[in-house]
Amino acid sequence: MDSTVTLWTLNIDASPIDWKLAASLLDADERQRAQRFVFDRDRRRFIGRRAALRQIIAHHAGTAANDIEFRYGPYGRPSVAGLPFDFNLSHSHGFLLVAVACETRIGVDVERRQDEAIDPAVLQPYLAPAAFRQLCAESPQRRQQAFYAWWTRIEALAKARGTGIAVTPATQLDGSADDLLARALPDAEGQLHTWYPRPLEVSPLHAATLVLSAPGRAVHIKTWSPALSH
Ligand SMILES: CC(C)(COP(=O)(O)OP(=O)(O)OC[C@H]1O[C@@H](n2cnc3c(N)ncnc32)[C@H](O)[C@@H]1OP(=O)(O)O)[C@@H](O)C(=O)NCCC(=O)NCCS
Repeated sequence: MDSTVTLWTLNIDASPIDWKLAASLLDADERQRAQRFVFDRDRRRFIGRRAALRQIIAHHAGTAANDIEFRYGPYGRPSVAGLPFDFNLSHSHGFLLVAVACETRIGVDVERRQDEAIDPAVLQPYLAPAAFRQLCAESPQRRQQAFYAWWTRIEALAKARGTGIAVTPATQLDGSADDLLARALPDAEGQLHTWYPRPLEVSPLHAATLVLSAPGRAVHIKTWSPALSH
């Protein structure tokens, strides 16, 4: 792999997936997680995304998808020992993003934009006071856009760090929803990195942000064709 970031997209709900084959790629822990979903649709989305994640990692690493052994950080960040690249995934309503890159930590978040007006107060714990005031002062339409830009940035940063959003409020973000302020913050293991957020155009329905610990990387957005079809 070179220094580019590969961002794989997959609409799980619209893909012809052989669910038996997909499930056969998962390990015992993933199968147990799959069993815990109440609704079939959520279970299928989980099986589809973990099978696709395994295939994408296998594609980049040159290994077999069902040989991959995940381990998890203190707040649930998945990783695989010995890989020459980092990865992270995010999903929203059946739409999956998997980001893969060498020599950088990586975090990604995607959210499907809702039409209903959103209360910006949800973001108050995560934003510096000036940034929150600026968000509230936007026109309703701009505020909706800025809300999703902030929200995906907060989550992608938390996921690159491996902390999860419960830890991030201690370091409130400043700037505006449009700028690309880099921040130096420790990851979940205590190592300091500078984090570079980047908004992504992945679909007209979704907002998405990528956060890297390396600056200036080219990003290639590609559609994953699951080798999971009938
Ligand atoms: C990580 C987190 C921000 C994800 O939010 P989300 O928008 O609901 O979900 P996304 O679709 O964007 O991402 C989910 C994926 O991120 C990955 N992930 C989970 N925890 C992660 C973490 N701490 N850092 C990075 N990635 C993480 C998983 O692979 C997950 O996919 P899966 O469900 O197929 O396993 C949120 O779940 C969180 O804050 N988790 C922390 C939990 C925590 O603090 N637990 C206490 C200690 S056990």
